[in-house]
Amino acid sequence: MLSSEIRSLFIRYFKEREHTEVPSSPLVPQGDPSLICTNAGMVQFKSTFLGEEKRPYVRAVSSQKCMRAGGKHNDLDQVGKTARHHTFFEMLGNFSFGDYFKKEAISFAWELVTDVFHLQKERLWITVYQDDDEAESLWKRYMPKERILRLGAKDNFWQMGETGPCGPCSEIFIDQGETLHANCPGIGFCDCDRYIEIWNLVFMQYNKSLAGTTSLPNPSIDTGMGLERMTAVCQGVTSNYKTDLFAPIFGAIAQSIGRSIDETIDMMPARVVADHLRAMTFLI
Ligand code: SER
Repeated sequence: MLSSEIRSLFIRYFKEREHTEVPSSPLVPQGDPSLICTNAGMVQFKSTFLGEEKRPYVRAVSSQKCMRAGGKHNDLDQVGKTARHHTFFEMLGNFSFGDYFKKEAISFAWELVTDVFHLQKERLWITVYQDDDEAESLWKRYMPKERILRLGAKDNFWQMGETGPCGPCSEIFIDQGETLHANCPGIGFCDCDRYIEIWNLVFMQYNKSLAGTTSLPNPSIDTGMGLERMTAVCQGVTSNYKTDLFAPIFGAIAQSIGRSIDETIDMMPARVVADHLRAMTFLI
């Protein structure tokens, strides 16, 4: 499946469920001095979550261009070392502004991942915030208890930056297999490429400001699926750099250094160049 088909399937699934498609906002946030670059799909909806802006819809879907090269969500030091971190990437997301909450968000995610993208249930793992009994019991409708893990705030409480909307979250992981790390201690204990987080569902409930944390006017939903990671999974490769999204770039780098494409992908500096070329292109 091509990356463009994955993007279209995601958008179409949510449009068929009354979500309004909203275009990606610019990589440089408009009128928000708390961020240098857009780091998630929810950034353009920040004031809607806070109840400061009313939109003509309560459900949205987008494919948002993101940069994570500084600030709270900074993947710069990981780029090239792992097969899954980037400075620039695309985030597919569905959003509810005071409309549906955990139950629907989890059932949409499960249906899309298993019935539309046909990922094998046996390879999936779920994490929830340590005290989120409700999310755990909702996931138990689909997954055995042993594959639903409770983790702390570092892994399962999401906030956009030092301030802004935030809440407990639940993540869907896929096991890429023992060949990547046979004795991996598991999700939450190891940062290898074996267990890949493919989708983060944030249950937006709070606003963090310099004065303290308050409740949002309405519980809301903000999700993010990395297009590059989902493409790797659907294309049956264990590195984002081996997907169609990076193929033309590696073709050009390989040609310029006189190596094969496979050799080039194995070179960390080439991975960094490929990542940064995309980032600089979209930033410009
Ligand atoms: N905002 C959350 C994230 O970036 C979900 O989209 O992971």
